[in-house]
Amino acid sequence: MTFEVAASAYDRFMGRYSRPLARRFADWSGVAAPGRALDVGCGPGALTEVLVDRLGVENVAAVDPSQSFVAALRQDRPGLDVRAGVAEQLPYADDLFDHVLAQLVVHFMSDPVAGLREMGRVTRPGGTVSACTWNLAGDDSPLSLFWQAARELDPQVEDESGVPGAREGELAQMFDRAGLSRIEPSALTVSVRHESFEQWWAPYTLGVGPPGAYVNTLDDDARSRLRERCRELVPEVPFDLKVTAWAVRARA
Ligand SMILES: C[S@@+](CC[C@H](N)C(=O)[O-])C[C@H]1O[C@@H](n2cnc3c(N)ncnc32)[C@H](O)[C@@H]1O
Repeated sequence: MTFEVAASAYDRFMGRYSRPLARRFADWSGVAAPGRALDVGCGPGALTEVLVDRLGVENVAAVDPSQSFVAALRQDRPGLDVRAGVAEQLPYADDLFDHVLAQLVVHFMSDPVAGLREMGRVTRPGGTVSACTWNLAGDDSPLSLFWQAARELDPQVEDESGVPGAREGELAQMFDRAGLSRIEPSALTVSVRHESFEQWWAPYTLGVGPPGAYVNTLDDDARSRLRERCRELVPEVPFDLKVTAWAVRARA
């Protein structure tokens, strides 16, 4: 799955959830000055922004394989060390950071255990490695309602419920296999307000992530059916969506 989409499209689709999650995740990971941090799979920078606010731009680095996200973040944050790269081969020396974090990324890695091991390698001994993924196997991820509607209309649809880290406990198992120690799991919940059905739905048509890729495969009729089924399933507007991510922190 590639994320070669405009940063603004990503922000409308997932940034609305990942920005509030970033604050919770950084708090829970214990990110506080002084220290140096790396945001792995930074996207357009939801978590990066929080790290920069806490640690200063000179103490933060960010890496992502998406050229469009890397370019957008470089433009938004002059002076920030933003690199193109993947978690499985991080372009940094050993023991460089106090905190290495990956928000909503592990399930997109081609080899999540190798990616987590690399995150441990670039963390100084005793530093913190943390990651989180939505509860994609449950009914309280930002995407649960969309995939429920898609499954009802097409039982063959390949949703995201089986991705690595979607189920409680899976992320911690991967941390263990990556050789990290003092592993602590948690669940982080944030609430996001939606003012209208259109505001909720429109970002699904922007081609972002697996849901956007799925919508792009549908013809006009199938897309309308999906949209109308979603309309039936979303709560009465305005509504607050409470969404949960599995999180794990550990020591390098
Ligand atoms: C759902 S987005 C999360 C972005 C950002 N962390 C956030 O919370 O908004 C997933 C990101 O992981 C990146 N990604 C995909 N495969 C990756 C890999 N192997 N290593 C690092 N990042 C990867 C994508 O390019 C994308 O930016």
